Amino acid sequence: QIPTPQWRPVYHFTPAKNWTNDPNGLIYLNGEYHLYYQHNPYENKWGHMSWGHATSKDLLNWKHLPVAIPEIETKDTTTWIFSGCAVLDSKNTSGFGKNNQAPLVAIYTADLPKQERELQYVAYSNDGGTTFTQYSGNPVLDIQKKDFRDPSVIWMEEQQQWVMTVAVPHEHKLQFYASKDLKKWELLSEFGNQGDVRKIWECPSLTPLYIDGDPARKKWLLMISSGNPDESTGMQYFTGDFDGKTFTNDNTPSHQQFVDYGRTFYAAIPYNNLPGGRQMMLGWLMPFDTPTYPWRGQMSIPRDLALKTTSEGVRLYQQPADVLYKQLQTLPAANKLVLPQTTIRSNEISLVKGGKFNANANWADVTFTPGTATRFGLKLCQNKNNKSEIALAYNTSQQELSVTVTTPGKQPVVIDKLAVQPENGKLRLQVLFDRSSLEVFVNGGEKVLTTLVFPDAKATGWSVFAQDGDVKLETLKAWDLSK
Ligand code: FRU
Repeated sequence: QIPTPQWRPVYHFTPAKNWTNDPNGLIYLNGEYHLYYQHNPYENKWGHMSWGHATSKDLLNWKHLPVAIPEIETKDTTTWIFSGCAVLDSKNTSGFGKNNQAPLVAIYTADLPKQERELQYVAYSNDGGTTFTQYSGNPVLDIQKKDFRDPSVIWMEEQQQWVMTVAVPHEHKLQFYASKDLKKWELLSEFGNQGDVRKIWECPSLTPLYIDGDPARKKWLLMISSGNPDESTGMQYFTGDFDGKTFTNDNTPSHQQFVDYGRTFYAAIPYNNLPGGRQMMLGWLMPFDTPTYPWRGQMSIPRDLALKTTSEGVRLYQQPADVLYKQLQTLPAANKLVLPQTTIRSNEISLVKGGKFNANANWADVTFTPGTATRFGLKLCQNKNNKSEIALAYNTSQQELSVTVTTPGKQPVVIDKLAVQPENGKLRLQVLFDRSSLEVFVNGGEKVLTTLVFPDAKATGWSVFAQDGDVKLETLKAWDLSK
């Protein structure tokens, strides 16, 4: 296989080598963000599922660590370590603690391919998450099904109990369970067959948030991996109330809401144990078509979660983690570009700072006021010689943002799109481009489009543009993150 260093992200997580899918067991512990992930330690494709492990202090630089939970092979059983979560058992409710230290407990799905069975297992760590011991009483949950997976556990202070959300994928159903000790689980209720049911339901999570940051208005965010508006892979969400037993949807059962409008953002789960009630998630960018080597699959940018009141009701807002945004401000001037307010008339303005900026790993925060231009936006990875480029363009009359890839000698292809309106007459785009991933946060996180692109390594152009008319560029700040 041919190595593809030109597509290795700079500020997004990828395993050093081999396959990854879902993030697992996301938890913040002693100043470090732990990232476990679905991993094949042996090959660059799905299989031998185990929990890979990395940690980061700043969400930017990741330290690769040995596999934390490997697959288990016995004479007649293979046990794959599928997706799940990790919690810090501060009160040692499980009794897994040692030497007065709170254990870190992983709750995950054991997939038994030979028996065609999925069970919920528990494993614990007494060394801060480096190694895990399987609980001798596993499984902790068995409902005799082939598909029953992806437990997500939170501590509910009021009820003094753990609550698990877990999926029965083909029945478009979630189950909620309660436990006092992470070992004995009791069914509380079920939720399902609402929203989008075209795809199986996987990787659910239940997260408390305050509407508009108001502590008096608590709401629960229920996210599920299961589809997106254009029928490809994606995630949906519900908002509602959770009384420690039952989830009550705020909206009618037929109402659908999506987390991301691209076709790659999947299996995102929130971090546990973040200070100050902050909620942040990380998702997997599912690799489609073009293979990368020696790794395959990458994580999204960590995203802060919020619920906001809008004219349509309470909606999910996402922003690139503030922890990261703050680090951008500390970059040297050479890595930063600021454009003054200007009008772009049927042309483009280069952002490469006379060639000093790398066009392949950057972050731009741009606000436009639409004018007479039929299309405006950003062009990424332009190669003027062979006419290749990736256009992130807003179509003014259709009120649609799209990603169009132009490859030499071929017709341009629209790979993803999103319907969105300017807010108070302005369209803000936070554009995170990292060698092969593109994440676009629109209007401060009202909607997000995430996709994958595989540009020409020699494409060094990067610009803002307006077509057939003008657009007002209100502000533009950009950062080169390649070095
Ligand atoms: C989602 C998923 C999960 C499962 C894991 C297996 O991508 O299918 O439902 O636990 O991947 O790798």
